[in-house]
Amino acid sequence: MCGIVGYVGRERCVEVLMEGLKNLEYRGYDSAGLALQLEDGIEPLKRVGPLVNLAGAVGDLGGRNGDFFRVRAGVGHTRWATHGRPNEANAHPLLGGEGGRVAVVHNGIIENHARLRRELEARGRVFRSETDTEVIAHLLAERIEEHGESLREALACCVRQIEGSFAVAAVSAEEPETIVAARHQSPLVVGLGEGENFLASAVQALLTETRRFLVVENGEIVELSAEGVAVSTLDGEEVRRGACEVDWDAEAVELGVYEDYMLKEIHEQPAALRKTLEGRITTEGEVDLSADLPEPFIEGLREIERVVVLGCGTAYHAGLVGKHALEKLCRVPVEVAVSSEYRYREPIGDGKTLVVAISQSGETTDTLAAVEAAREYGGRVLAVTNTRGSLITREAEAVLLTKAGPEVGVAATKTFTTQLAALKLLALQLAHLKGLRSAEELLEIGEALRLVPEKVEHAIELSGDATRTAAQAFEAARCALYLGRGVSYPVALEGALKLKEISYLPAEGYPAGEMKHGPIALIDESCPVVAVLGEGLLREKTLSNVQETAARGGRIVPVAVEGDASASEVADHVLWAPEVPELLWPLVASVPLQLLAYHVAKGRGLDVDKPRNLAKSVTVE
Ligand code: G6P
Repeated sequence: MCGIVGYVGRERCVEVLMEGLKNLEYRGYDSAGLALQLEDGIEPLKRVGPLVNLAGAVGDLGGRNGDFFRVRAGVGHTRWATHGRPNEANAHPLLGGEGGRVAVVHNGIIENHARLRRELEARGRVFRSETDTEVIAHLLAERIEEHGESLREALACCVRQIEGSFAVAAVSAEEPETIVAARHQSPLVVGLGEGENFLASAVQALLTETRRFLVVENGEIVELSAEGVAVSTLDGEEVRRGACEVDWDAEAVELGVYEDYMLKEIHEQPAALRKTLEGRITTEGEVDLSADLPEPFIEGLREIERVVVLGCGTAYHAGLVGKHALEKLCRVPVEVAVSSEYRYREPIGDGKTLVVAISQSGETTDTLAAVEAAREYGGRVLAVTNTRGSLITREAEAVLLTKAGPEVGVAATKTFTTQLAALKLLALQLAHLKGLRSAEELLEIGEALRLVPEKVEHAIELSGDATRTAAQAFEAARCALYLGRGVSYPVALEGALKLKEISYLPAEGYPAGEMKHGPIALIDESCPVVAVLGEGLLREKTLSNVQETAARGGRIVPVAVEGDASASEVADHVLWAPEVPELLWPLVASVPLQLLAYHVAKGRGLDVDKPRNLAKSVTVE
């Protein structure tokens, strides 16, 4: 939630900040703003709404004032509103001090802001917004104006007073071409350049500029100038830290030939899955995670008696899919929990509990807190994340990276299917260590998993026109019901989530067998029913539920194994997916549901990449 960016160096500050914000817009798009260091002070520029509004203002101002594009330092922000409505006063940067000589951008929540605000007001500071962030701007200004401190010293003092989560960057008119920043719980990286340096909430903001990064830790202050980056503790002690290189391409965040990131990312799934499986599964189908997981962790897996899977949103759905493979292949009880519930539950577990924390971003506050709760009882935490170096990787004992590359569309697609692949790898590895399944059986599933990228490619081919046509059934819809059983049930949940996220149609995912206990009352011609069929006995059972809905006038959209004649009998438009072993069915069946949601939303003229009110990383409770 909220993205921050900073630049200091050459006469290209505005260009770099705007490009950085474009790549961080997935974090929030309620408003956007810049604070630029001009010769005579700080120039704030803010606009409500998506970044294009700010870009328009930048164009206008730049046209009037040539100096504007020669600015060498500044900070930028893209907002997902928490405190205060999305209006210009509440947009960042927030200013403090005489004539607004200090500017601040912030991602996170300052929990003790109300008390700090009262104190600052009592000392004569005048607030102009409803945000929690404004206290930081005034605290900094106060330390600089009344105590003669440098911006760095002022920020160190401020960090000691504020509580909550934050990544904050500030500029001051008194210290040209300098940015200072700090963080606690919210992410912050420094990008290293030659004669210029960068700051951002996430590396994808800066991939066009650099691949060399420093991760800022809690309790540190960074000071950026054109010449260098100084990291220190709050007490001012120097911290030495090597840079790390990231291997993501800048093109990964470009649209290329696609109309939207969501469509691009759906089509990137075969490649993303190939990368996620590569080096972890042999041509014979044997899974080996020894290059990813430390030896003692792998050894510890033999002792595991219980698994807890944690996640939010799509990651939670991935966990529900993972449960099937883990229980079936490893014969251990698996609990899947929504992180925001788990963290407050006084959860039960011990050192024989494997805790699989799934988080694409690696920075979801609730999942981080749930991990902390699990660590308290001694759970062995494995993080499944798409973000190398993210907060969760530092909390976990071991990390299994999904290698989907950056995902820009707010609705998760390729990160979901790669999470599924990672969980299958984990289940196969654990099953092998536990030795309860025959080697042949595991090799057979492993071999099929290795071929999944091609199957997903085929699923995309099968789905293109079919999903566009099926989307017509949703034109006059007022809601939708997604049904499935067994492994198809979480697929239905995720399909319904995709539809509601981007098309704003109320959509419910339900176990098909539960339909008669309530949802059936919803069914009429304005409530299409998406039935995820799959194979085996459960398919037959779901089919009978489908017949019951058809008998009540529901329009049926089945998702079925390619060539399944009985699916064609219940509906005019079937969404086909290729045949795979049952445990892998969610990987291929999810594809038509992603594309169906995409076409329904496009048909309604909506922005699929930036659905209203949502943000991709949820760094607040
Ligand atoms: C937000 C995003 C979802 C995501 C969820 C969990 O709600 O919009 O797409 O599934 O957060 O995020 P995480 O980064 O922890 O996987």
